[in-house]
Amino acid sequence: MIEVRNLYHAYRGENYVLKGINFSMGKEIVALVGPNGSGKTTLAKHFNGLLKPTKGSVKIDGLDTREHTVAELSRLVGYVFQNPEHMFFEESVFKEVAFGPKNLEKSEDEIRKRVSWALKSVGLEGYEERAPYSLSGGEKQRLAIACVLSMKPKYLILDEPTTGLDAKAEKRVVETIRSLKDNGHGILLITHDMNLVLELAERVVLLYKGEKVYDGPVEPFFDIALERYSLETPELLKLAKKLGVSFVRSTDELIASISGGVL
Ligand SMILES: Nc1ncnc2c1ncn2[C@@H]1O[C@H](COP(=O)(O)OP(=O)(O)OP(=O)(O)O)[C@@H](O)[C@H]1O
Ligand SMILES: [Mg+2]
Repeated sequence: MIEVRNLYHAYRGENYVLKGINFSMGKEIVALVGPNGSGKTTLAKHFNGLLKPTKGSVKIDGLDTREHTVAELSRLVGYVFQNPEHMFFEESVFKEVAFGPKNLEKSEDEIRKRVSWALKSVGLEGYEERAPYSLSGGEKQRLAIACVLSMKPKYLILDEPTTGLDAKAEKRVVETIRSLKDNGHGILLITHDMNLVLELAERVVLLYKGEKVYDGPVEPFFDIALERYSLETPELLKLAKKLGVSFVRSTDELIASISGGVL
């Protein structure tokens, strides 16, 4: 479990940007949403110890993040950064993805298996010998995800993972997230994309000005007046409402509910 108790955070003596957050999550897909500057990244950076609480506590499977290093916590919590361009330092994609499992002292065979699985999951098979800096923006984003996947952390934080990805790549990332969840991982998905929330999330946490203003299931989340939080209701849900259907997750579900599955 990730357990956050009464968490306050202030950067270098400035005002609090997180104000009394209580939150816990296990093996589930949680979407963390909220307007720019609401504190999503600040909250998530507490989960692998990159930031430490100014007040309150964060525990990962019982480990207090104040008492453990980022290296120790990274075995449990993988973090894919919002802007991954600057995180690569190896000369090839293979080495970059192998770095994590190597540090975990996995066998050569296991490392190769993990690299090939991770690259396949993000659609970068065949890129093994390329230099990371030579990849396109979207490819770098996918490489960053692969680097974290190869460590198979119990919890995975994805900060805007689909920004800049084309439709095919986004689909792969969505499928990977689903399969990770089915394999017992907990996923925290930070996103502004409400379609992604609708498609993938099991629970939504909404931050606003450093406070948690909603934490619960997806359906009632979309009853909130989201414009107030600079978020937009998906077109699919607007259409469903006009057709008298209160909630659906996909176009197929909408068709089924208005035609009784005949179409
Ligand atoms: N290193 C820092 N030093 C000082 N203030 C910071 C720092 N990082 C973030 N902040 C401030 O903390 C607040 C929360 O920022 P944070 O990055 O957590 O927001 P966010 O919800 O992730 O936003 P976005 O949707 O734009 O990614 C903002 O007011 C931001 O300016
Ligand atoms: Mg952010």
